[in-house]
Amino acid sequence: ASNEFCDAAFVYGDSGCNVPPSVSSKILIKGGTVVNAHHKEVTDVYLEDGIIVAVQPNIKVGDDIKVIDATGKFVMPGGIDPHTHLAMEFMGSETIDDFFSGQAAALAGGTTMHIDFVIPVNGSLSAGYEAYVEKAKRSCMDYGFHMAITKWDETVSEDMEIMVKEKGINSFKFFLAYKGSFMVNDELLMEGLKKCKSLGALAMVHAENGDAVFEGQKRMIKLGITGPEGHALSRPPVLEGEATARAIRLAGFVNTPLYVVHVMSIDAMEEIARARKSGQRVVGEPVVSGLVLNDSVLWDPDFHFAASYVMSPPIRAAGHGTALQGALAMGLLQLVGTDHCTFNSTQKALGIGDFRKIPNGVNGMEERMHLVWDTMVASGQISVTDYVRITSTECARIFNIYPRKGAILVGSDADIIILNPNSSFEISSKSHHYRTDTNVYEGWRGKGKVEVTIAGGRIVWENDELKVVPGAGKYIEMPPFSYLFDGIDKADAKYLASLRAPVKRSTT
Ligand code: URP
Ligand code: ZN
Ligand code: ZN
Ligand code: ZN
Repeated sequence: ASNEFCDAAFVYGDSGCNVPPSVSSKILIKGGTVVNAHHKEVTDVYLEDGIIVAVQPNIKVGDDIKVIDATGKFVMPGGIDPHTHLAMEFMGSETIDDFFSGQAAALAGGTTMHIDFVIPVNGSLSAGYEAYVEKAKRSCMDYGFHMAITKWDETVSEDMEIMVKEKGINSFKFFLAYKGSFMVNDELLMEGLKKCKSLGALAMVHAENGDAVFEGQKRMIKLGITGPEGHALSRPPVLEGEATARAIRLAGFVNTPLYVVHVMSIDAMEEIARARKSGQRVVGEPVVSGLVLNDSVLWDPDFHFAASYVMSPPIRAAGHGTALQGALAMGLLQLVGTDHCTFNSTQKALGIGDFRKIPNGVNGMEERMHLVWDTMVASGQISVTDYVRITSTECARIFNIYPRKGAILVGSDADIIILNPNSSFEISSKSHHYRTDTNVYEGWRGKGKVEVTIAGGRIVWENDELKVVPGAGKYIEMPPFSYLFDGIDKADAKYLASLRAPVKRSTT
């Protein structure tokens, strides 16, 4: 029978394509270096029924139990990608990777959970939520939802409450760009920030000044610059810096935490660093493309090649990426996402002759863990424990699902990767597991390879073979009031008291 288990070449079953692969519910990982965000040690890990039940040396098991030798390798929490767009309708297209294909690829790259952005339907959060529940039905990996807010009225405000209290969503994204579609103005942003604060939900911003981008686009078209390079030229770093600063100041005025997604420039990063230095709760998320690529590709005469790199905010000039890496290493930025949002060459071709029509987005879900390892750990910029923190643990803490996710601790979900630092990886659209036909990291060779991925206690990636089951992925509800909200009420009380305090006057 042709059915849901058959539509990907890399889904294997025991006895024919419509049977899920056999599941070993008990697994022992022996002799590896187990890494958490604050500690690493050589020890064993024993899993049963999707949960970590023991982390200690010299665990003995019977012959019937699957044993994986991890000697000389790192045993780490599976990656959590805080920023993806699967099966998203955007700019007149729908992303080519859906929840199944995007997740399967992610698992092959060592990511075991992602958080996707629910886009409202005609502004309706509940309709958007229902649509995404449907899209996510064939998930083979655990996932959670953020939600975008694209208009404001009483229903949206009430729906936000329902999403937080009943649907397991604890974060809302506001787009300061995409004028005419997703963009919100400052008044809406303020309403949203206040509502987020009252619900203990984290406000997220896409920080580019959409009105100024619109102006920049007109300027480029007038100059006759219609190719993919016009995309970057029309929305320079200053517009990202301005919007980042504005969002940070407004979040500070409301006194609620802020999460800045896809930090692509030094300009935006420095605004975040400044705010954090003053004690404001701002989280900055660089994405892999912004960390390791530069904008030279956008000038390539081959439209299809150049267009594959078009995303917003744009990939910046060389120098921004290395600065973002440094900021990540020093803790000025906190975690790494991908903004995975893939369109194939045919879809990108909608923008031939007018860069404004190129659907925005690049790949990354499958490559993130390898590229961050290669660029940050193998290069010596960060420790292995910091690697776990920025690829997994910090995301779990921010979205309030730690230590169920983001840790190798007794009781945590059995989402684990085994990385061999002495092996290597190579990226190509010929071997990646996406549906899309291009890869912005084509030809990248690097150190360190994820040899085994275990998701929900199931070995889904081993010996370069993917064994995934549609429907095996669980929806992870994320409760409000993460650690970022601790003490916010005290700061509010102090502020109110200051308004009523007598004015101190000079005595002379
Ligand atoms: O180009 C991008 N980033 N596409 C996805 C939508 C967004 O702004 O995150
Ligand atoms: Zn079949
Ligand atoms: Zn965005
Ligand atoms: Zn995005």
